[in-house]
Amino acid sequence: MQDYHEFLEEILITEDQLRERVAELGAEISRDYEGKIPHLVCILRGGVVFLTDLMRKITVPNTIDFMAVSSYGAGARQSTGQVRITYDLKEDISNRDVILVEDIVDSGFTIATVLEFLETRRPRSLKVCTLLDKFERRQTNVPIHYCGFQIPDKFVFGYGLDLDELYRNLPFIGCVNAALYHPDA
Ligand code: IMP
Ligand code: MG
Repeated sequence: MQDYHEFLEEILITEDQLRERVAELGAEISRDYEGKIPHLVCILRGGVVFLTDLMRKITVPNTIDFMAVSSYGAGARQSTGQVRITYDLKEDISNRDVILVEDIVDSGFTIATVLEFLETRRPRSLKVCTLLDKFERRQTNVPIHYCGFQIPDKFVFGYGLDLDELYRNLPFIGCVNAALYHPDA
């Protein structure tokens, strides 16, 4: 396994910038959901680091739940548009004010599929909060109500986002120099 310093092209978003922006999003959500109990639905696994930081910056009472989807084949980095729900929610979301918490919206296929799936369960409201928006790669129109950062079309890792399942624990968002990254090394 490579040390990330070997393929890190640049740190796109620092730990301080993440902390500051997540606090702002938490404050914004707290204002918007005053008097409500938002239900934060996190898509495993990339969204967990963002979720756990974000929920502690939300001052209104809130609840959380998790779901998982699979969209990429093993090792692939392109969404196929074929998104499967592999782990369903534990809690009923009917009449709940749901906020879908995602690490990154890329093509948009994942969020689009999950939104369609959640809508069938009749939440009172349904919004999307993503840490990162790789807007140049969008292939389907999806609503984003809360966005941490818009980023260029680069493959990123850290703060929950993985490179072949590794490096999720890094406290910053870095981008990969593909020529220097060797997954099997
Ligand atoms: P979409 O369906 O193309 O919008 O893909 C969204 C999912 O792809 C995210 O939830 C991530 O798991 C993954 N993904 C997209 N871009 C990146 C990236 O740059 N780094 C790590 N994961 C990514
Ligand atoms: Mg992923």
